[in-house]
Amino acid sequence: MSNFRWSNPVTVYFGPEQFKELGKVVASYGKRCLLVYGGGSIKRTGLYDKVLDLLSEEGITVFEKGGVEPNPKIQHIREACEICKENGIDVLLAVGGGSVIDATKCIAAGACVDFDPWDFVAKRIMPQKALPIVDVLTAAATGSEMDSGGIISNPETNDKEGVGGPLLYPKASFLNPELTFTVPKAQTAAGSFDILSHIWEGWFTTEPPMTMLDEVQKVVIRTVIKYAPIAMEEPDNLEARENLMWASSWAMNGFMSSGFGKSWPTNHPIEHQLSAFYDITHGVGLAILTPRWLRYCLSDETVSRYVTFGTDIWGIDPDQDPFDIANQAIEKTEEFCFKTLGIPSTLTELGIGEEHFQEMAEKACQPFGVINGFRRLEPKDVVEILKMCL
Ligand code: NZQ
Ligand code: ZN
Repeated sequence: MSNFRWSNPVTVYFGPEQFKELGKVVASYGKRCLLVYGGGSIKRTGLYDKVLDLLSEEGITVFEKGGVEPNPKIQHIREACEICKENGIDVLLAVGGGSVIDATKCIAAGACVDFDPWDFVAKRIMPQKALPIVDVLTAAATGSEMDSGGIISNPETNDKEGVGGPLLYPKASFLNPELTFTVPKAQTAAGSFDILSHIWEGWFTTEPPMTMLDEVQKVVIRTVIKYAPIAMEEPDNLEARENLMWASSWAMNGFMSSGFGKSWPTNHPIEHQLSAFYDITHGVGLAILTPRWLRYCLSDETVSRYVTFGTDIWGIDPDQDPFDIANQAIEKTEEFCFKTLGIPSTLTELGIGEEHFQEMAEKACQPFGVINGFRRLEPKDVVEILKMCL
């Protein structure tokens, strides 16, 4: 167990009734607001109109930057920063999934400086000033609604990296599970897998776990495994959607990874290379990688964690050889990813070959030349894991 500090300044407004407070909360940060959104889902669902009504009731002047793509691109963010500077924007309102909130975080920092916002990512500059951010989350997945990081893509260089710092926590996040009823089945699957990854990439550790945290992590993992298929089959099942939404936030707000500092993240930097080079859905990349990563990391040193995973998560009979339990647990994970969630099982199915694997592996291991996780991964190990995914 590592030492840690934990604090989280995000005020969460959870549920449909709370949503009515949106205009007042935004107005508390200023009257000139840039509304940031994605490719149009909020217009199709009617959310866009509801948001504008709430803002207008408070006399807020709204500027807009729609069109944020999944794996948000830096050029779009540059344009949004210019809108902020030209129009004296006081506050940013992100309405969408993780990509919209991530883009908004980079805009918040970029609007306050004279240099290219990509420098926050490429030069790992910690923002010293940022516009306040309020968000309305529409998809349970990334936890961006309750963390201080954003993941930004630069297609010109095939880079996908983070911008982050304490100033980039949203001031307030509006979490209304009903807004996720319209999330498509495949996106619900991918988002749910992302939530799981955020928890178990830290949970798979060789460090002695703290019992309280260990048990909470397992409960949230089981919750997501239970409710993801329900939300996929019954999109407007409120119980499923609210469980997934709150799990999304708690998987990434620092609580789950407290004390697991050395172990997290492990698969994420590898996946970010896949979505950087091929613009694939983040949760899909994670689901393809995870069973292979589990196979690659299994050893005498790590097997006991697989045994707990197998028995406590997948209900496997504990009276067996540890390696048998471990292998059954990996098979159960594969079944969950590729049958229950219906995620494509190989990179080949996504049209991805091995031509960039070496470069991707080296980038995934930056800045230390190694991923220090459950098992120490050097670029050659990452290449092997990627090859197992073909
Ligand atoms: O763009 P629109 O039209 O809104 O449609 C989106 C998009 O096509 C759609 N969608 C979202 N809410 C919807 C909806 N469609 C119908 N009804 C709704 N209510 O879903 C599609 C995907 O949206 P996106 O925001 O890209 O998904 P997600 O929330 O999974 O975000 C993924 C991004 O977040 C990054 C990922 O790498 C990826 O770039 N991550 C951010 C993290 C963070 N900030 O802490 C951590 C994560 O590990 C992750 O890396
Ligand atoms: Zn993730």
